Amino acid sequence: MKHATIEKRVGLLIAFTLIAVSIGGVVEIFPLIFDQAGTKPVPNLKPYSAVELEGRDIYIREGCVGCHTQMVRTLRSESQRYGHYSVAGEDVYERPFLWGSKRTGPDLARVGGRYSDDWHRAHLADPRSVVPVSNMPAYPWLFDNTLDGADTAAKMRTLRTLGVPYTDEDIAGASSAVEGVAESEALIAYLQSLGRDMQGYGGDQ
Ligand code: HEC
Repeated sequence: MKHATIEKRVGLLIAFTLIAVSIGGVVEIFPLIFDQAGTKPVPNLKPYSAVELEGRDIYIREGCVGCHTQMVRTLRSESQRYGHYSVAGEDVYERPFLWGSKRTGPDLARVGGRYSDDWHRAHLADPRSVVPVSNMPAYPWLFDNTLDGADTAAKMRTLRTLGVPYTDEDIAGASSAVEGVAESEALIAYLQSLGRDMQGYGGDQ
């Protein structure tokens, strides 16, 4: 068929255009359906505990993601500073992702275990008490507010429908684990869990 014929007949042109475009789609999209790298958890991956999950929601509420990423890029300067670069398999249970894009403060993907709980308490209450040049805001109210745990089980049930492997015991014990916990403690539990699942992946790679 001559090229001119195709160009003059709109129906044919549309049909061939669709075929040409879908070849590109098949080549790019189809392999992703079978590629497990993004859906297979890293070997140590554990879902957040009830308290850590509430801490994560406080992290979202307070907008920490506006200044902190959780995404170690594949750059030597980053893996030397933070640890192993981020891989898809460690975020399989993350809903929503908190990768962020603004790096006013350091990346937090590997911050778990780097400081003591006491350091975090001092830092959240008054960042400049531990890092004099810090421009991070203080979060004093986190020490006054306590959680009631009323929604925790429901959140975990919802996450379970999305594939997070919470057991019935996890869900049954959720609200009593959370009730009465200070928001600061839940947030710190969450921060201390960051990067936990990547132990064994080595540091600088
Ligand atoms: C306006 C920007 C901003 C916001 C919002 C912010 N931070 Fe920060 N954060 C920083 C900066 C800058 C630093 C580096 C100086 C310091 O350690 O205080 C930092 C440091 C940190 C560190 C220490 C990281 C390390 O590796 O040394 C942690 C942990 C942290 N922030 C947690 C939080 C949490 C949790 C929230 C939300 C409650 C939050 N930040 C909100 C700017 C911010």
